[in-house]
Amino acid sequence: MKLDVDFVRQHFPAFNGDTKIDGHFLDAAAGSYPCQQTIDALTGFYLYNKVQPGNPYPESQRAMTQMVSSRERWAQALNVQPHELDFGPSTTQNLYVVASAFRDLLVPGDEVVVTNQDHESNNGAMRRAVKDAGATLVEWQVDTESGLLDPEQLALIVSNKTKLICFPHSSNLAGTRNDVERVVEIAKTIDAFTLCDGVSYAPHEIPDVDLMGVDIYLFSLYKVYSVHQGLLVIRERLLAQLPKQGHFFKSALTVGEKMIPAGPDHAQVAAAGGVLDYIMSLALHHGFEPASSGQEDLAGASRFVSELWHVHERTILAPLLDYLNTRQSVRYLGARTANNDRCPLVTFSAVDRDPAELTKALCERKILCCTSHCYAPRLLEAVGMDAQKGGVRFSMAHFNNADDVSATIAALDELL
Ligand SMILES: Cc1ncc(COP(=O)(O)O)c(C=O)c1O
Repeated sequence: MKLDVDFVRQHFPAFNGDTKIDGHFLDAAAGSYPCQQTIDALTGFYLYNKVQPGNPYPESQRAMTQMVSSRERWAQALNVQPHELDFGPSTTQNLYVVASAFRDLLVPGDEVVVTNQDHESNNGAMRRAVKDAGATLVEWQVDTESGLLDPEQLALIVSNKTKLICFPHSSNLAGTRNDVERVVEIAKTIDAFTLCDGVSYAPHEIPDVDLMGVDIYLFSLYKVYSVHQGLLVIRERLLAQLPKQGHFFKSALTVGEKMIPAGPDHAQVAAAGGVLDYIMSLALHHGFEPASSGQEDLAGASRFVSELWHVHERTILAPLLDYLNTRQSVRYLGARTANNDRCPLVTFSAVDRDPAELTKALCERKILCCTSHCYAPRLLEAVGMDAQKGGVRFSMAHFNNADDVSATIAALDELL
């Protein structure tokens, strides 16, 4: 089935009426625009329920109910238990706290694997924590041509001393899904925990975290058409072992109380579930039949919609990759075809062209993209690209259409 992109775009004020963006939006990986359901949920909370939640008066009760509902509904969508999931200020902040917990858990002799493909969020704090604990850091390195990670290289560098493997679901520069199944399989053979940064991937698939088998999964809701919050999942078997990072009087049984010391942003947490209404309406519009009547089937709707997103995104990405493959002067990271693992995100450099100037010229032609190392300078260094200047990054989501891509190709043709 084909994604009805016109229907999709009706749900985003950014593509309609007075609020319409002037140009082709190819900067979704930096922040995706919220859907209307997110905006309505946030506005509704501020208008009617912006009080301290949990007290015995109606506004306060409603505030609490909505916050709890966001957590329970996201748990359903991701196929985890509600106490294994909660919301923090950002993924960087959530990872900082997770790293702090590992600082207390690790002992000298333990090993932790990090990659040089990750956004620095999944690198800096963990590298420092490992060092502080007197444990040993092991770097799983990318292929220096493609910027991709080969799990068979991981298999060679782990041992029974490995306690944790941190890696991205997909890189925010190389735009290609890592083989999570194989990473988890390798981790299981040595009884290591796995931490997967899903920030760059979750906008393209709302994953079944239980099926993936990772112990920690994180992503940023503001890149998934929702509010500016980080979503953190820690599975029970690891949650029970991690030292508490919250106040001493908080419970040690839930991710929220144990692992998110920041006070919750009530309105954003309450509105975090709004995007799931969008996902459900998208699923139903495309003929989805919920598994059990009378109950929301958010897991089913999420899988159904993710498949629609994938097919659509690969379809619009293919001509862009085909075009870039014909340009001798262009180098980009990640898989060179729109295969099953490819996300609609391309970071490229062009011989003798300054990426910032190229980006400016593209933006002047209404191709709204970005240039930077996008907080992944280790990856650019590893592949021999200029880590300071970065590359030009085009990042799309399911709301992009074929027009966006043909306009981009036309602009590139003029500029390159
Ligand atoms: C792959 C990846 N990981 C982590 C982060 C950090 O997320 P946040 O902005 O929520 O801290 C980003 C942000 O762009 C990212 O792209």
